Amino acid sequence: MARRGNSIIKGLEISDIITELNKAYADEWLAYYQYFIEAKVIKGIMKDAAIAELEQHAADELRHANMVADRILQLGGTPLLNPKDWFTHTNCGYEEPKDFDVVSILEDSIKGEQCAISVYSGLADMTRDKDIVTYDIVSQILADEVEHEEDLQALFDDITEFITDIKKNIN
Ligand SMILES: [Fe+2]
Ligand SMILES: [Fe+2]
Repeated sequence: MARRGNSIIKGLEISDIITELNKAYADEWLAYYQYFIEAKVIKGIMKDAAIAELEQHAADELRHANMVADRILQLGGTPLLNPKDWFTHTNCGYEEPKDFDVVSILEDSIKGEQCAISVYSGLADMTRDKDIVTYDIVSQILADEVEHEEDLQALFDDITEFITDIKKNIN
């Protein structure tokens, strides 16, 4: 544990920061797996573009899990050790892909990103001016999650527009 580093945290219980970071840590692993498996099972129109995006997001979520785990350790905590705990600690849950169509996969993923944005925005509010290091980390992740939502929404819009055009041409 970084003793001097942790002494600069003011107005917050370190154990509360660790608890919240562990919840985000669970979210990141579940998000990672969700993107990983979505990229494997996805079907339908323009799926190659979607696969590239989903694989990129999977890599980003795993990088986030790394960042959060390192911060938990710096604070003197222990990142969740058992994957079973991901389900009891998660904020955003896990959206099992039931319909493999590209449109519903993207819908599920957009929902996940919106939840992640709320979580990291809450963590930024919690740590602002109190725990500068965690604030910096959660702000970086928040910026990525905002970009993720935007990328998925843009792809979703392109694909649904393309489908509408095709239907128009058929009729
Ligand atoms: Fe993430
Ligand atoms: Fe994300």
